Amino acid sequence: MLVLGIESSCDETGLALYDTGCGLLAHAVHSQTDLHEAYGGVVPELASRDHIRRVVPLLRAVLDKAGRRAADIGAIAYTAGPGLAGALLVGAGFAEALAFALKVPALPVHHLEGHLLSPLLSANPPRFPFVALLVSGGHTQLMRVVGIGQYELLGETLDDAAGEAFDKTAKLLGLGYPGGPQLAALAERGRAGRFSLPRPMLHSGDLNFSFSGLKTAVLTQARKQALDDNDKADLCAEFQAAIVEVLAAKALAALKATGLRQLVVAGGVGANRALRDALDAGAQAVGARVFYPEMELCTDNGAMIAFAGAQRLTFSTAVKGDGGFGVRPRWPLEEV
Ligand code: KG4
Ligand code: ZN
Repeated sequence: MLVLGIESSCDETGLALYDTGCGLLAHAVHSQTDLHEAYGGVVPELASRDHIRRVVPLLRAVLDKAGRRAADIGAIAYTAGPGLAGALLVGAGFAEALAFALKVPALPVHHLEGHLLSPLLSANPPRFPFVALLVSGGHTQLMRVVGIGQYELLGETLDDAAGEAFDKTAKLLGLGYPGGPQLAALAERGRAGRFSLPRPMLHSGDLNFSFSGLKTAVLTQARKQALDDNDKADLCAEFQAAIVEVLAAKALAALKATGLRQLVVAGGVGANRALRDALDAGAQAVGARVFYPEMELCTDNGAMIAFAGAQRLTFSTAVKGDGGFGVRPRWPLEEV
């Protein structure tokens, strides 16, 4: 069956066609980075309006790329939450209307479930059960994943998400938008250890995180002296080292606590090179393996939503819609 996936939870419009027999046929993403850059962050109303503009051209693009027609679509999966309410409603409204017109089912999908399952789209996928480290702009969670829809929360951030910490710190250092990748690029040129930042909750004995203090610690350093480009690079390197050290230590602790040997890393921060290096080395040392989505599927995209919807169809575990197209801007993953 051909499943159309629609992602519109934040500032990317993503559409994809996934065939349950042949795999991913096509995906296309439009990023709104340029639209929000001037404001230094996502403006929800502008995001919603842009999703409206992009969704039909992107649908045409994926149908063309896959060589299929709208009438071939057998189900439509869309991100129903968590995310920005207005942005979610664009995808949900479009998906439900198209599904009604085509007389096919519409499947609400949890955005984080999409991220969580995205490594299963790669050439060498993990097998259930595994530990998942979800690190995005809005979430930082460790989950024990037993199967489709069977997610047990092991730990999460008590305040800022890892991506949020990257973005806010980049902003206060005057780096461009979006901050995470820019901060990471600058960190590559810098030297960790020259500045000293805390490793929050490294020894807390649980699998929770806290990143909001880190950005304050960076601000304190930045206020002590005028920072030139080299100083900024060194401060970024230390900031990245602090986040990576805590994320890697807790992810490995989760493997130990569950006795599992597969770690899946998903979400935008999973694109971070230093994090990947630390996780790969740490896992190898304990005989475990780390799985990542393809680089282009690390950040928000429609492919992961189409895939998650297809899995739920295959395993008959579709999340129940409410007959309309309600969205859940806040939606704990354990509740799917
Ligand atoms: O998963 P995602 O695309 O959107 C959300 O659902 O949040 O993640 C976006 C987040 C942003 O905070 C962005 O700054 C961060 O991922 N990010 C990175 C990198 N690439 C994206 N953070 C650190 N290093 C990167 N290379
Ligand atoms: Zn995301």
